[in-house]
Amino acid sequence: MAVLITGIGELTTNDPELGKLRDAAVVIEGEEIAWAGAAADAPDADERIDVEGRAVLPGWVDSHTHLVFAGDRTAEFEARMAGKAYSAGGIAVTVEATRSASDEQLAANLRRHVDEAAKQGTTCLETKTGYGLNVEDEVRSARIAAGVADEVTFLGAHLVPPGADAESYVDLVCGDMLDAVAPLVRWADVFCETGAFDEAQSGRVLKAARERGLGLRVHGNQLGEGPGVRLAVELGAASVDHCTYLSEADVEALAASDTVATLLPACDLSTRQPLAPARRLLDAGATVALASNANPGSSYTTSMAFCVTTAVLQMRMTIDEAVWSATAGGARALRRDDVGVIRVGARADLQVLEAPSVTHLAYRPGVPLTVGVWRRGELLTSGFGSKR
Ligand code: NIG
Repeated sequence: MAVLITGIGELTTNDPELGKLRDAAVVIEGEEIAWAGAAADAPDADERIDVEGRAVLPGWVDSHTHLVFAGDRTAEFEARMAGKAYSAGGIAVTVEATRSASDEQLAANLRRHVDEAAKQGTTCLETKTGYGLNVEDEVRSARIAAGVADEVTFLGAHLVPPGADAESYVDLVCGDMLDAVAPLVRWADVFCETGAFDEAQSGRVLKAARERGLGLRVHGNQLGEGPGVRLAVELGAASVDHCTYLSEADVEALAASDTVATLLPACDLSTRQPLAPARRLLDAGATVALASNANPGSSYTTSMAFCVTTAVLQMRMTIDEAVWSATAGGARALRRDDVGVIRVGARADLQVLEAPSVTHLAYRPGVPLTVGVWRRGELLTSGFGSKR
């Protein structure tokens, strides 16, 4: 069945040929976009939905979350707001709660957060393991994630579990753990940071993952300058995430590479770090993605709109740069061309704003503007009743 969405006041496509259109229409057929262009030229369809001048854009592509978890870290957040610094060690609290939870509890918690994100316009979501940190719990996390998320990343190298010897744990991650998890995931990641894994350990994990055919991602330069970005670029990682503290050499290396710099503004704010240097990266020619980093410790939000607003108001990205980074940029960080874009053949993932243009995402900070969401051609929410 073909559905015509018409009356689109502003259509952001991220497609270089289509660009940004006024008075536009889109046709969805099954799970895909069948047509996009000027409303006056739209073909007939079985059903017609008039969005009465509202803005339409691709659904958010959230390329960095940690949503296979149990438990709560409110106390840690309160301590941070009272001046205590964020450290990687807090991850262990979630590891304990996650190991104690049943499969059903973990799956329900993941589903609840993915649904929460979808209502806010997120139509493609990556999530990671990393709160299991033993073979059994990492495999279980990957299996649960694979049943719900679009993309799954193995993050056995998130933290050396309390009481374990670091080198022996890296041996386990590079051996039995990767062997068991690899069939369930597309990506492998490592937290290359003081208090987590050093350059040599991170390199070992990434190379072992690459040998098993996994794509690479890196958590790097979150709490200080370090080797994360350099390593990610050298090993051809699809993305290096955080990038809060970058040297000039890091910026130049990213600009000269295909590795996407994925910035996580909600995390920078929640951990009271400086905001990542988006302007420096963009001006140097690097590809920037924005993601939520939804997790119970450092960034407990699923709101991509909040990330876009922050990127514009506080990180000096333009509206169009921020919207691109949270849609097509996320897709680039996941090496996908079927999401984050409105063009014929792309996945029918769209959102409708209660606003005439995407500018309102920053102009009206904090207002929940996403009122309609299609994911794979299915209308998930439609709060865009007729205008009075
Ligand atoms: O991306 N940096 C490492 N991992 C997460 C934090 C997870 C946690 O604190 O539980 C992050 O910020």
